[in-house]
Amino acid sequence: MYTKLRSIQSGTFSTVYKAWSTKHNRYVALKITPKYKTSEASMKNEYDVMKMLSSCNPHPNICSMLDFYTDDSYYVMVLEYCECGDLYDFLDIAKSQGTPSSPSLIQIDMQKIIKQLCSAISFAHSLGIAHRDIKPENVLLTINGDIKLADWGHAIQSSKSNDFQIGTDNYRAPETFSGRVNNSLIKRKLDPSPAPFYNTYQADYWSLGATIFYLVFGDCLFRVSKSKRNQHLKNFDEFEKDPFAFIYKKYVVPRLACGYNAEEDLHSSLQHSRQYVWQDLPDIYDVFHLCKIMSDTLLRVSKAEERSMDSFIEQVDFAWNKDLSMDSCFSYQSKIDLFWEQWSINTESIPSNFPFKNFEKPCLVQDSK
Ligand SMILES: Nc1ncnc2c1ncn2[C@@H]1O[C@H](COP(=O)(O)OP(=O)(O)O)[C@@H](O)[C@H]1O
Ligand SMILES: [Mg+2]
Repeated sequence: MYTKLRSIQSGTFSTVYKAWSTKHNRYVALKITPKYKTSEASMKNEYDVMKMLSSCNPHPNICSMLDFYTDDSYYVMVLEYCECGDLYDFLDIAKSQGTPSSPSLIQIDMQKIIKQLCSAISFAHSLGIAHRDIKPENVLLTINGDIKLADWGHAIQSSKSNDFQIGTDNYRAPETFSGRVNNSLIKRKLDPSPAPFYNTYQADYWSLGATIFYLVFGDCLFRVSKSKRNQHLKNFDEFEKDPFAFIYKKYVVPRLACGYNAEEDLHSSLQHSRQYVWQDLPDIYDVFHLCKIMSDTLLRVSKAEERSMDSFIEQVDFAWNKDLSMDSCFSYQSKIDLFWEQWSINTESIPSNFPFKNFEKPCLVQDSK
């Protein structure tokens, strides 16, 4: 019924193949998991979640399960096939084909990806399902440039969780780490108070923000979080104090360091230090603006309850559609003016030896209008 054509990706637990299905008369993806690598309970959880998400009216931006079977050794999940793979690999190609002086142009709208991702997440939440591992590797791209959220292996059918081991560190909300210490057996014996819970939907909102951040910069929001857990807090503290200054310092300045030429204006030097550009996010002020919206709505370190996907979408729509900043009709100078006025950036945490003294508002040599 299924003819394996090639292996797409091999992970710790499963291998994904492209296959032809005579049953469905289409290409499919087979996610094959050896039984010895997983527990029956966790496979059942993934199956149940996929069944719910795929039944009746499947969501167009969620990768549906078409079939499932098992034998003595393997579990096989038959999934809709997404021709262009995942967004992480897609951006890797864009990076490798672009250079700072000639960035690849990504001809998909970031706004569309954002909306589709939010729609998929809202749909799952409306069914009581949280994904808990939203990241570029789990966002698949179809040949039409649409996305499908995949890999529901860590999903939970609850808005609360006290499992502090779930997800991928770089994209995980701060509160999903916090129970680790309290949860240890020794601590629990000393302090028998119940383990804290986190809200799984709010944790998804953070991961959504961290994922979009990666799409924009090709880099994770917290790079050091990968290996050294203690440094998490230092970074989170800095981010929380002034998210914007943090982004400027960690993501903009390093790019300036390799590409900045004092003769050029700020816009073009930043532009030239990127390896790819989204077609609807062409200049760095649009990128800044999106980061500001994300840090206000999704990437809130404390007060997770104030994260809001609705207000994120509302502000994104406003920014793109109401010609506030992300509109090419505005000259760069007026975008900068608007930007500075609107956000009244706090410059305290920017060291004075940065390329732009005290984060001063840059002045362009030539205005395009
Ligand atoms: N339906 C699909 N179509 C195309 N590629 C897929 C599909 N499902 C998974 N993949 C590829 O396989 C990778 C691993 O699949 P995933 O479901 O995320 O499993 P894992 O639990 O190993 O992370 C994805 O990151 C993606 O590159
Ligand atoms: Mg995955």
